[in-house]
Amino acid sequence: MKAKSLNQAETVTDHKALLKWVSKTVEMCEPDAVHWCDGSQAEADRLFSEMVASGMCVKLNEAKRPNSYLFRSDPKDVARVESRTFICSQSRDGAGPTNNWEDPVVMRRKLKKLFKGCMAGRTMYVIPFSMGPVGGPISKIGVEITDSPYVVINMRIMARIGQPVLDALGERGFFIPCLHSVGQPLAAGGEEVPWPCDPPNTHIVHFPEERAIVSYGSGYGGNALLGKKCLALRIASVLAHDEGWMAEHMLILGVEEPCGRKTYVAAAFPSACGKTNFAMLIPPKAMEGYKVTCVGDDIAWLKPGPDGSLYAINPEAGFFGVAPGTSEKTNPSAMASCARDTIFTNVALTDDGDVWWEGMTEQAPAHLIDWLGNDWTPESDNLAAHPNSRFTAPAANCPVIDPDWEKPEGVRIDAIAFGGRRMRDEPMVTQAFNWGHGVYLAATIGAEMTAAAEGQLGQVRRDPMAMLPFCGYNMGDYFRHWFKMRNNIQHLPAIFKVNWFRKSEEGAFLWPGFGENMRPLRWMVERASGRVGAVETPIGWMPHYEDIDWRGLDFTETSFKSLMEIDRPTLRMQTLAHEELFLKLFEHLPKEMIFERELLISRL
Ligand code: OXD
Ligand code: MN
Repeated sequence: MKAKSLNQAETVTDHKALLKWVSKTVEMCEPDAVHWCDGSQAEADRLFSEMVASGMCVKLNEAKRPNSYLFRSDPKDVARVESRTFICSQSRDGAGPTNNWEDPVVMRRKLKKLFKGCMAGRTMYVIPFSMGPVGGPISKIGVEITDSPYVVINMRIMARIGQPVLDALGERGFFIPCLHSVGQPLAAGGEEVPWPCDPPNTHIVHFPEERAIVSYGSGYGGNALLGKKCLALRIASVLAHDEGWMAEHMLILGVEEPCGRKTYVAAAFPSACGKTNFAMLIPPKAMEGYKVTCVGDDIAWLKPGPDGSLYAINPEAGFFGVAPGTSEKTNPSAMASCARDTIFTNVALTDDGDVWWEGMTEQAPAHLIDWLGNDWTPESDNLAAHPNSRFTAPAANCPVIDPDWEKPEGVRIDAIAFGGRRMRDEPMVTQAFNWGHGVYLAATIGAEMTAAAEGQLGQVRRDPMAMLPFCGYNMGDYFRHWFKMRNNIQHLPAIFKVNWFRKSEEGAFLWPGFGENMRPLRWMVERASGRVGAVETPIGWMPHYEDIDWRGLDFTETSFKSLMEIDRPTLRMQTLAHEELFLKLFEHLPKEMIFERELLISRL
């Protein structure tokens, strides 16, 4: 069947390659209609009311949560699916041993079959989007074709979409084609289920040489909002490698000191390890005059600027935050960000039409509708909200959003931190001796698994630069790129490694975290400009007890020692564990990694 209407296509753009791609996709997917998204409020309102009518979402109480909606996904479609995520480079070597690979020709053939007629009975939406401010020197344009209205209204928050993007694209501008379908084609005359998806056939596919993305079978965030992980990390990491910049799984924050000095810090943490909380940190009251502002909470694109410093933008325009654990106590700014204009996915619904999740309040409400749509009370056996339930909130709603968060040329980065989630052995904060040492520290970070991806919770996996699931090419070449960037940046940011999650033998956290992270953050900022002391240790520079601002916190020197303790025999064993990664990447491993390891061993 041919599409009944190809609305506005000829009037919205003269970009021949784009029009050709759209019309070829229409031919393949056979949607009932085509809609070019303008990103307007009216368009969003119409889509929401259609989705409310079809039972796909619930409008929340307008008085309590204005302009906000709750979606419940299919219980089989709740997280990124790394086992079905592919990097289809020309050679297997291009993807490397940490990615799933398939011959691009074979994969194209497979996808063609899956996509044939897959949008019948549905509307196909064309979403022109910009990652980064429209027309900015670091920004990139993508176009997502999708049959999911949920994707449209999420992309509208997470990216800049609509006509201004097409205008910036012009007649022959470069764009990254992103094709998405939820799959599960409608049988002729069949009723749409509330959350269509096709888990057994899910494929999240990247073609790095073609700079193209194809995703089938999942409607969930990271698998379906293709601007985010697929474009802004996997494909962008390839572009960054080829063009001499960096696309990283990093938050960006600004630290304002009482003297008025401002320092921007980028920080990489594996998924669901508190990036959003750190990006919106509220300093302790006693540290009067310190303020943290947020530029981004998940992705940073970093590019050397004309003055030789490293500049970063947040390519996104919203937060796709993990809801459980977010509260007025842990992250009031995130709570304010999702107080209105927000899409919630897989959280619980209260009796008065608002949302709730574990950790939002100390006491759970007496009755809820859980994420599966069932009645729930505090006595129920299951969680009310899925552990990976999310809020999609506009960054502009954030009360601590940085005044320069949309500066097209980005903000200057003076420090980069890498963190994991390690219960044992890793001290709270260390500074790398130099860039090369920093790359080694970053490449060998490990983390206990979280709920953001399928897999065994609590298992430790090595997650270099927190990019293991997001690097679009061979991880060994990615390390080499990091080493090489040293030559492109005249004023190198200082590199740190942090761990907020250390526990005592009895299992209690040794560090209170959250707002108190301002204390190590202050030390990092001052180290970056050489204004505070440190002690040299085999694994890097560490603060003395007196180098940390302890005002307003009763944290003894003995507690600090436990938090920062490094045990040489354990460290030696850990260094041996790095070998596993080195062997895996052997053929592409830059020799600097071996040298850095040798230096570490000799210091130990
Ligand atoms: C995310 C993730 O959704 O890292 O940000 O999984
Ligand atoms: Mn992330």
